[in-house]
Amino acid sequence: MTSQLKKMKNMLKLTSIDLKKVKTETLIIPVCEDKTIHDSPTISLLIKKAKQLKEFTGKKDDKVIFYDIKEVKAKRVMFLGLGKLEKIDAEALRTFAGRAVKKCMKINLTEVLLAGPCGKNIKIAIASVLEALMEGAFLGNHIFDKYKKEKKLKPLKRINLLVKADMIKKYNKLLTRISTVCAGTILAREWVSTPSNYKRPEQFTRSIVAFAKKENLTVRVLNEKALKQKGFNAMLAVAAGSQSKARMVILEYNPKRAGKKRIALVGKGVTFDSGGINLKPTGSLEGMKADMSGAAAVAATLITAARQKLDVRVVGVIPIVENMPSGSACRPGDIVKSYDGKTVEIGNTDAEGRLILIDALSFCIKKYKPHTIIDIATLTGSCVIALGEKIAGVLSFDDELAKAIELSGEKTHERCWRLPMPDDYKELLKSDLADIKNISSSRWGGAITGALFLSEFTENARWAHIDIAGPAYIKKGDGYCGAGGTGFGVRLFCDLLDKI
Ligand code: BES
Ligand code: ZN
Ligand code: ZN
Repeated sequence: MTSQLKKMKNMLKLTSIDLKKVKTETLIIPVCEDKTIHDSPTISLLIKKAKQLKEFTGKKDDKVIFYDIKEVKAKRVMFLGLGKLEKIDAEALRTFAGRAVKKCMKINLTEVLLAGPCGKNIKIAIASVLEALMEGAFLGNHIFDKYKKEKKLKPLKRINLLVKADMIKKYNKLLTRISTVCAGTILAREWVSTPSNYKRPEQFTRSIVAFAKKENLTVRVLNEKALKQKGFNAMLAVAAGSQSKARMVILEYNPKRAGKKRIALVGKGVTFDSGGINLKPTGSLEGMKADMSGAAAVAATLITAARQKLDVRVVGVIPIVENMPSGSACRPGDIVKSYDGKTVEIGNTDAEGRLILIDALSFCIKKYKPHTIIDIATLTGSCVIALGEKIAGVLSFDDELAKAIELSGEKTHERCWRLPMPDDYKELLKSDLADIKNISSSRWGGAITGALFLSEFTENARWAHIDIAGPAYIKKGDGYCGAGGTGFGVRLFCDLLDKI
């Protein structure tokens, strides 16, 4: 285990202390607007006092702080509003915990004690309440300030979650799982937030390899020579314009106890998508450092699976390139022979994600014959137009697999919505000169035609495609995620892996 991971894991603790006896610096009490959600008499009494103030009713985001009060041995008690009971679901609790942590950071606190709600009024299972609070607190306590000289906010050193004594043992396993999965999400977030000049393909590859090796994953990297030799020509066409060479990273997690069944994850790793010769306009270029979010999600999921010692065999295939225009770049109209032998006409060099993914998908299916293969990619602007910035698109011919992804999406709040893949839309990808074209002849339905293009390279595999162009990145932080990469996909996959 890395020391950074150890530090992160020790950050969150379950504790059960007597508030009247044990001294704490800061006690945070979540307060519901209309019902009681605590069964400790001391806490109930304190809430009653807080609610006597006109300015505090328990409305969402209400806040009031009491100092040095006699009922508890805390320097300060911070009451935070959760809103009406009927509105409190897992996501509301994650957001609540994330915001609470941010508020504490802003006033330079280092250690807090958060009173976990547990009264009978709460309709969600106690395990889900704790899980949501832990996730929100852990993820909300992350700041990406690596590139700032002046670090204004410091993450809290310790967040204690106050629970009943008999719950500590029962939920400590849950705590370990959540901490590991959230540390994986943060790893993905940091990769995505890293500027493109610090993660050019060779560098991004080295970073993934370093983390993967620490967790004893089997690591293989195909360099440009190997890629050429093996015929990854669609992928190489995308990389051709960049000074930085293409890489294919293959991570294998092979736990001893697992059977033969193998799940494959494939992630789009474009470290910067300028559009290539079909250069993107100003306004569309700025977010394109995040075009490797699929790759980040896949690498972080494998690393997390190993840290968790999951009982599932997983392989991650991660094509990494930079899409740049130059004298050596591929051109619209070029025809390339993909890894599986089909020829592709490059109608638009900005539809580069699908070019690197088809080579990765066919290679992965041929070499590993996975039980299920899922690719995750910031593939199309159309998907963002269809579903907005917070929901990913899921495209699959397999109803059961699509449903399982949607369900894990609901559970983790990494929301996924299925889009159709009608057979007749394949017409739109016809090329006069090659076997297929990388863009559609229609302006509309780009998320669908993007997926249909991929599907031509998935043979008969049980496959799904997740388009995360919307939710991979946020410009403005909120709740339990700061501005930048969201790590979308890691929590989703960690929930999904042993269910498919
Ligand atoms: N990386 C983009 C997709 C994207 C758009 C990601 C917005 C995040 C936010 C992708 O490579 C792309 O440029 N897609 C084109 C495809 C088109 C040329 C067929 C698109 O969606 O416009
Ligand atoms: Zn593009
Ligand atoms: Zn792209």
